[in-house]
Amino acid sequence: MKTNLLLLSAFAILALSSCIKDKEEKIVKNYSDEDYAKLAKALDLPSETYDYTLDLPTHLGGFPVSVDNHQATLGRVLFYDKRLSVNKQVNCASCHHADKAFTDGEQFSKGVTTERTSRNTLALGSFPSFNAYYGFGGTRMFWDNRAASVMEQSEQTMKNPVEMGIKDLSDVVDELLQEDYYQILFEKAFPGQDWLSNEEKMLQALQSFVSSIGCFNTKYDQALASTGNPDANFSSFTQEENLGKQLFATNCISCHNLGAGFATTIVAANNGLDTDYEDQGIGAISNQSTDNGVFKVPMLRNIELTAPYMHDGRFATLEEVVEHYSTGVKNHPNLHENLRVGGQPKKLNLNDGEKAALVAFLHTLTDAESLVQVRYSDPFK
Ligand code: HEC
Ligand code: HEC
Repeated sequence: MKTNLLLLSAFAILALSSCIKDKEEKIVKNYSDEDYAKLAKALDLPSETYDYTLDLPTHLGGFPVSVDNHQATLGRVLFYDKRLSVNKQVNCASCHHADKAFTDGEQFSKGVTTERTSRNTLALGSFPSFNAYYGFGGTRMFWDNRAASVMEQSEQTMKNPVEMGIKDLSDVVDELLQEDYYQILFEKAFPGQDWLSNEEKMLQALQSFVSSIGCFNTKYDQALASTGNPDANFSSFTQEENLGKQLFATNCISCHNLGAGFATTIVAANNGLDTDYEDQGIGAISNQSTDNGVFKVPMLRNIELTAPYMHDGRFATLEEVVEHYSTGVKNHPNLHENLRVGGQPKKLNLNDGEKAALVAFLHTLTDAESLVQVRYSDPFK
């Protein structure tokens, strides 16, 4: 069933995409000169739109993933617009910085009040393609998987009193639509689609923009693309990185998928951070004790850029994360079986060389350049 769905989606995407193959940022579709003059007063946008298609390389499926370019363009503007918050000082990018794989380097983030968020910001740039990961498998968002889509996530974040503090989303859109440039961007993104409310259009556009984020130009991907075999030693890797890759394959990959990730990932697990959790994660939503201390299994591309780590940002460095898996795994009743041996917490007891090798391997998953492309950046002049 899942495979059929996947194939179907892949075909739909193939049919929709215009088969653009270049890696360069591409530009498609026109604005009228008059419209463009209005846009250009406030926004640094190209006179046509960027192409937000991601061409996944063969080892990640080998097909293009598209979003609507005009929706993504509108979404980009909204992502950087501080009028999306009650005090007009916080935008999505306040907590999601492109150069940190769309995290903010904080343990807990500051929104519209002096209070901080109760969880660590999730990276939006940890996927080969955000869309491929979330679009196909029905995988859910947030550390406790409480949102089914970016539309739901964005509505919750905008209404959250600590994050953006908006009471009524329609007030926000009404204000935005007083700008002639927003009128143009909304009309381009949703031509004649009057059955959608303006709030729905705003949320859909944010979803199209976030969904377009992806990165696969890592040292790991380059090596895998040329070797074709993830288990072989990579000639472009150092000995240490190859040792780390092997340790990762034995101990980590069963939960942290490195593929496009829409088939076999374990989406949520308890990884033994505590014996008794302050934040119960999925358990607080489902009220099932078997979900206590269970959190999303994060994807690890660009993990080097997204410190601090875990749902509560408790680990400042990747060395501390590796130490956790080496000696620190706690015997929580819900500790996942992949982290148990004979019913007891599995402690890898790595030596110093092995710890360093795992960290070195995690550094091969970095693709900082894809994230700082202009089409993901702040367009306001
Ligand atoms: C005040 C900081 C803050 C702001 C502002 C903010 N976020 Fe987030 N974002 C977070 C935190 C913290 C999480 C994780 C929260 C949780 O899991 O409970 C998160 C999670 C997410 C996720 C889930 C990712 C995943 O893989 O599950 C998405 C998508 C997202 N944010 C997009 C946005 C968008 C779009 C906006 C603007 C409408 C936005 N964020 C504004 C802090 C923020
Ligand atoms: C049982 C599945 C499982 C296994 C096996 C596993 N992890 Fe995790 N990992 C998780 C979960 C779940 C989280 C998030 C836990 C939380 O925040 O409460 C996580 C979080 C992480 C994070 C932090 C991610 C972030 O964005 O903050 C890193 C890094 C990490 N794991 C690396 C590893 C490495 C390296 C190994 C192998 C030594 C490994 N994991 C093995 C499930 C697993």
